[in-house]
Amino acid sequence: MARLTEKEQQEVMRFIEAGKPPPDKYRFLLFDDKREVELVWNGKTNEVTNVVLPFQTIEQVDEPRAEKPEDTAAQQDLFALDSRGRQLQGWTNKLIWGDNKLILSSLKNGPLREEIERQGGVKLIYIDPPFDVGADFSIEIEIGDEIFTKKRNILEEIAYRDTWGQGVDSFITMIYERLSIMRDLLADDGSIYVHCDYRVNAIVRLAMDDIFGKERFINQIEWAYKTGGIPERFGFSKKHHHILFYSRGENPVFNQLRQKSYVPTLPEPHTSSGQRLGVRRDKFCELCVNGSPGQKYRMVIARDIWDNISSIFRNDPQITGYNTQKPEELLNRIIAASSNEGDLVADFFVGSGTTSAVAEKLGRKWIVADLGKFAIHTTRKRMIGVQRELKSTGRNYRAFEILNLGKYERQHYVGVNPNLREDQRQQ
Ligand SMILES: C[S@@+](CC[C@H](N)C(=O)[O-])C[C@H]1O[C@@H](n2cnc3c(N)ncnc32)[C@H](O)[C@@H]1O
Repeated sequence: MARLTEKEQQEVMRFIEAGKPPPDKYRFLLFDDKREVELVWNGKTNEVTNVVLPFQTIEQVDEPRAEKPEDTAAQQDLFALDSRGRQLQGWTNKLIWGDNKLILSSLKNGPLREEIERQGGVKLIYIDPPFDVGADFSIEIEIGDEIFTKKRNILEEIAYRDTWGQGVDSFITMIYERLSIMRDLLADDGSIYVHCDYRVNAIVRLAMDDIFGKERFINQIEWAYKTGGIPERFGFSKKHHHILFYSRGENPVFNQLRQKSYVPTLPEPHTSSGQRLGVRRDKFCELCVNGSPGQKYRMVIARDIWDNISSIFRNDPQITGYNTQKPEELLNRIIAASSNEGDLVADFFVGSGTTSAVAEKLGRKWIVADLGKFAIHTTRKRMIGVQRELKSTGRNYRAFEILNLGKYERQHYVGVNPNLREDQRQQ
């Protein structure tokens, strides 16, 4: 603590006796870990929960293999199977139902941690927390010409209150504690990508600097897309999200990706059939297609502006009915860059299961979690589809298990019929 002069000490005492907070300058004089710039909000604490709750396996999912136990030789070698064709050894992927604060704390401090470390630790975390103030728990489902809205259930209601009950203050309290535990769970060479929009981007960035350290900041990726709203009266259309990329340590796993960088070219002389007229062959030049000159490009290190991945559109083959679903191509890029085959990838706000679907297709192991019943139902169904797809093309896939931390029952998520209204679904 800095030494206060006698005058300063008397001033502080006068404020304390009057029941008033001392002037702000004393915050910097009184505390040793004073920082010139810091993130403070009502309710900030560095304490994180250490609670460990037991995980219960409520279902083991390995449907395609169970249907045909005499699988390919490669699969047999990789995973030992029981008499029903289920994987017996090696890592089993995990879809966990519950509040991610308790899940994170139980993973970090409980017995599963050892198993995670045996796999090399968590190499990559991607999260897309709810920033659409409340909209994430309600889902719009189109049936015929009608749109049904699924309302929040009681657990989601509580999570919504905890996340947005006091506006951005409660959002930052929610995310700060979870990010702190995620940092502790990451491997030394692991990385984290946090997806957010303009509403919480600034505050999440400050929280990340606080937790991971400014020096661990790697990129702020801008994902620009074309869909979405238009401004009502003034302003420009908001057409991008931010993805904050930080590493846990100094040497994160990273595979340099490349992209085409187009350079402006003048049309080159060519005949109407596309034949070039004495044009120099340039190794960067694409061939003339249908008489129009190709554009020149160079292969460069991939940039932090991602403007060639479209958001999920109506009739998109990827569509699951989850209205905050992100495109697989986005996760493809992140997972390919920041993990290798066999690495463990996690997402604790998984929604429709995009992270697990892409991780599985890229041969990564995964742990994902969500609080919502519909999210668990959607991810389960999607992952069975991915298992089937991989099997049909002769590729390896892993079994996954569904775990919970509360008193959720299998029939509650397997039986979610999206064609029913919420009151009908609760019956
Ligand atoms: C924006 S969505 C994620 C969408 C996902 N990226 C996708 O591609 O489908 C956010 C998800 O976080 C979940 N969520 C919110 N609070 C949570 C909590 N406390 N614990 C676990 N999941 C939570 C919501 O149920 C929702 O599915």
